[in-house]
Amino acid sequence: MLKMYINPNVKRGHINKEIYGHFAEHLGRGIYEGLYVGEDSTIPNTKGMRNDVVAALKAMKVPVLRWPGGCFADEYHWKDGIGPKETRKKMINTHWGGVVEDNSFGTHEFMELCEQLGCEAYVNGNVGSGSVQEMSEWVEYMTFDGLSPMTVLREKNGRKEPWKVKYFGVGNENWGCGGNMTPEYYANLYRRYQTYVRDNNISKICCGSNGEDLDWTKKVMETCFKGTPGHLHGLMDGLSLHYYTVPGDTWDQKGAATEFDEDTWYKTMKKTLRIEELINRHGTIMDEYDPEKNIGIIVDEWGNWFDVEVGTNPGFLYQQNTMRDALVAGINLNIFNKHCDRVKMANIAQMINVLQSVILTEGEKMVLTPTYYVFYMYQKHQDATLVDSYLQAPLTGTEIYQVPSLHESVSIDEEGHLNITITNLSLSETYEVDSILTDWEAKNVKGTILTGKMDAHNTFENPEVVKLADFTDCTINGQSIRFNIPPCSVLHLEVK
Ligand code: AHR
Repeated sequence: MLKMYINPNVKRGHINKEIYGHFAEHLGRGIYEGLYVGEDSTIPNTKGMRNDVVAALKAMKVPVLRWPGGCFADEYHWKDGIGPKETRKKMINTHWGGVVEDNSFGTHEFMELCEQLGCEAYVNGNVGSGSVQEMSEWVEYMTFDGLSPMTVLREKNGRKEPWKVKYFGVGNENWGCGGNMTPEYYANLYRRYQTYVRDNNISKICCGSNGEDLDWTKKVMETCFKGTPGHLHGLMDGLSLHYYTVPGDTWDQKGAATEFDEDTWYKTMKKTLRIEELINRHGTIMDEYDPEKNIGIIVDEWGNWFDVEVGTNPGFLYQQNTMRDALVAGINLNIFNKHCDRVKMANIAQMINVLQSVILTEGEKMVLTPTYYVFYMYQKHQDATLVDSYLQAPLTGTEIYQVPSLHESVSIDEEGHLNITITNLSLSETYEVDSILTDWEAKNVKGTILTGKMDAHNTFENPEVVKLADFTDCTINGQSIRFNIPPCSVLHLEVK
């Protein structure tokens, strides 16, 4: 029997609700069709937003939404997306699929969506092809509460009150699609552009590295902070980090979403687990300039990236979602929780119909993916307090790929309940676990589980192949909780 030790007396930090964040880019069928169908659609909608999708997202609890990109952000000119829809500029989405972008979803629509979801707004600005003035005016348009050219324009477009924008990204992937810049060049631009993001309530996010590009982090931090005079404090609230799990060895052969073997399963898990190493290594560089961890790591793009589904537009990045995605989500979220002292936000890529989505749509049909259910189960961690936990985890895997079998994180929520989430990466082993709680008498445990075959997934024809089930294989005895966690599963235990 394996042991899990939980000490609720040892509080490890606040789990920002934003760790459970999402990302929606003007890409494929993510926004158009997935979230927004327009007011004239036959699909039931409120101000153009799909009612079915919004209701499902609310049940899962979306704390923050990042928009409009991604690579699209550094080509986006926000004034194209305001004013009467019939006069909005039509353009080609050169990055994603070469389709017409009619700008019918713009700033007002994004803010409306955030209001319907009850979530914070994370707007990503354009450094790659936009001016300082353009960025500064966008912030003024959205958040200024007073008389100014941009607030007059906002009112003319039907919105008198300012909106709240909690996070603003100053560029995206500026080492690549956002302008192919060197770290020093970008960091100097960052210093300049962020100066004109004139809203003291906005948290400013600087563009961080891709995966293990530690040099980017080092040079950006150095250029921004070395010899920094006092007045530059408040320069940066977060530094982004992008890390995708790509099972294949090249971008041309990433691997299929639903057809894979056991080796590929464990390889995917192993690659996913690398996020912890990256958080530690980038965090160590940040510690040099920010030992108090005031600047968060913002993992604003993460998730599985597979080959697109056969027959779909390669630029739309549409992929199915199996139990493998559920495990990848569960592992990432447990790791983010455990690093909540530095990781302040994370945004899975992407919300609907793109990469590792929580929802897929086809016309008026909608399915919830295994990833959706993981976010649903983990929602109790949002704004909870991380507590100390340790779980014995033997290695599991094939001859080629071995990984620790179990991963957990534990928090106490506002009501004083303990929430334990555990992933079992093994495809064959059920593990018997005895959890020992320090100074805590368990009175009641409510369990929910997501489990199935490794490639199990929901389709429009069979939407309930993978779904949540009550978990009852669990006994309590004072300070001990014993349970058997089946292979290929994600488990949530709520302990009172
Ligand atoms: O999420 C898809 C793309 O991946 C984003 O646009 C970009 O930032 C990243 O390369």
